[in-house]
Amino acid sequence: MDQAATSRYGDSTRAIHAGTGVSTADAFCEPIAMTSGYAFDSARDAWERFTGASPGNVYSRFTNPTVSAMEQRVASLEEATDGVAFSSGMGAITALCMALCSPSNNIVCSRDMFGTTLNVFKTYMRRFGVYARFVPVDDPHAWAANIDERTAFVLLETPSNPMMRVADLQHITQLAHARGAKVIVDNTMLTPVLQKPLRFGADAVVHSAGKYMDGQGRSVAGVVTCGKELGNELRGVLRTLGICLSPMNAWLIFKGLETLELRVDRAAESAFRLATWLAGNRHVERVHYTGLSSHRQHALAMRQQSGHGGVLSFELAGGRDRAWRFIDQLKLVARCTNIGDSRSMVTHPASTTHCRMTPQELQAAGIEEGLVRLSVGLENVPDLIADIDQALEKSVTSLPKMPWFERIYAD
Ligand SMILES: Cc1ncc(COP(=O)(O)O)c(C=O)c1O
Repeated sequence: MDQAATSRYGDSTRAIHAGTGVSTADAFCEPIAMTSGYAFDSARDAWERFTGASPGNVYSRFTNPTVSAMEQRVASLEEATDGVAFSSGMGAITALCMALCSPSNNIVCSRDMFGTTLNVFKTYMRRFGVYARFVPVDDPHAWAANIDERTAFVLLETPSNPMMRVADLQHITQLAHARGAKVIVDNTMLTPVLQKPLRFGADAVVHSAGKYMDGQGRSVAGVVTCGKELGNELRGVLRTLGICLSPMNAWLIFKGLETLELRVDRAAESAFRLATWLAGNRHVERVHYTGLSSHRQHALAMRQQSGHGGVLSFELAGGRDRAWRFIDQLKLVARCTNIGDSRSMVTHPASTTHCRMTPQELQAAGIEEGLVRLSVGLENVPDLIADIDQALEKSVTSLPKMPWFERIYAD
């Protein structure tokens, strides 16, 4: 509404309607559509948009221009025809369950997946008569033995987090499709920069988009990229369940994607240098990183990945005590359970991200108490090595918790 038109109105009316004609048409940086609703040209226009007879935004629970722009950008990177964003990665995984499962279906899922994903199946989906079967991601026979005609979908993370085990994407996809099951790959760890699961036949790719896609740990978001048919199913779930992404977070990821390749390549290069250094360190028992030629599945990883990512894990002798002492001595590397940030971060999977697993489940997944996971950021590698080196040295024996003692032994 222009100034002349508002002059005849009262203060409250002008406070609301004056100055709303601001155009962002020439802004080079894409604007954020912070709106819940949309203006319709006429009653007919509203009716047509609500029923889907004509395109256009309806309500930001399921249509928003900034969210759509982000969805299109991720879909393009994953070489998918459609993309649907959600409030979080878990929201995206829940939506996939809602879109694809019916009672008496089963889900076949890799055993060492992100802990909360496992919890969706173990605690919630079973209440609706959908049971999950958990298999080692790197065991082709286990996949073959567990996928059947009632399998709604197969869900896997490759490489797995935190053990860096690799799933043979082509093999598993062929098995699943022969039995009518869809294949969904959680590609959060490698991002489309280093792995494009749809090229190997996967039906959908899911991301916790607040990780590498955001790149600076500012938002929580999820996205599924897939074909049009599944995309429409997912949009129906989104419209009904309301697990929608805020335009602000969509914009952060939209802009974060512009530097994704640079950041992911740099993190992967640094992770390789750190993995090599750790493999030669006297305090480290084992390093898990697919980029090392000593990794059992290095050849498979080289076939389906174009790089090995910024996450690695390693084992220290001495169990939880030793791992915690090491973590507590770090000065530059942050204690944070996130991945994909510009800052390097360390976590102890057994007591944090995977704490809801039983000791037996942890053992079966190979997650030892001495295991530490590192998400390598964008700092200079010599600085990271110096920090990890001093923390490893100091973790050998614990210092008594006496301030005078800590002062003497402080740097
Ligand atoms: C590999 C992976 N998948 C899914 C999720 C869940 O995503 P969100 O935290 O966005 O719900 C995470 C979260 O850390 C993750 O690391």
